[in-house]
Amino acid sequence: MKKVHDYYFKKAKQEKYHARSVFKLKEIDDRFRIIKRGLTVLDIGCAPGSWSQYLLEKIGSGMIVGIDIVRVNNIDDSRFTFIQDDIMKIDLEELKEKTGNIDLIVSDACPSTTGNKFMDASRSISIVKRVFEISASLLKKEGSVVAKILMGEDVGEYVKELQKMFNRVTLTKPKSSRKESREMFIIAISKRAES
Ligand SMILES: C[S@@+](CC[C@H](N)C(=O)[O-])C[C@H]1O[C@@H](n2cnc3c(N)ncnc32)[C@H](O)[C@@H]1O
Repeated sequence: MKKVHDYYFKKAKQEKYHARSVFKLKEIDDRFRIIKRGLTVLDIGCAPGSWSQYLLEKIGSGMIVGIDIVRVNNIDDSRFTFIQDDIMKIDLEELKEKTGNIDLIVSDACPSTTGNKFMDASRSISIVKRVFEISASLLKKEGSVVAKILMGEDVGEYVKELQKMFNRVTLTKPKSSRKESREMFIIAISKRAES
């Protein structure tokens, strides 16, 4: 059975982050060094907001646009703009008008899981494909993407496909991700000019 109040849960509370997920992004950043001062970042599936809290600590005078179906109302910072919407339905031209071009896209978006691992993996890869569709239209050349995915049999092939679009693509599982979870993170670094 899942331990709810684990080490990372308590650490998040102590450090005043809105969720334990923050430590996954921190670990990814420590390893891949993708979050830099001055960046404009799109945080997909941003509620309750711990990734955006961490991003705000790191981006200096940069900007964050957070999107989620669920409202986020606990981040009070002029560098943070929230859009309440479903990324599967949002119009990309309208989104681009609101965000401009983006340097980094991070997505922790996940479907609510059903317990059926095939169905969960299939819904997760649909979200991830949409994240990369968004990156094809909004992400700047040399921009990067971090996207959570629930592992399923199609993931390996999909990662290979992404190598056409990015200079480096890798899969990672941070230590703070629960061992029993099938989640991993696609790290796609430096978008190529032609994609
Ligand atoms: C694990 S939570 C994200 C936690 C967040 N990274 C944090 O650190 O606070 C996943 C979020 O993805 C959102 N989500 C799932 N599907 C989505 C969609 N189609 N469009 C927008 N948000 C979505 C959910 O509403 C949920 O808030």
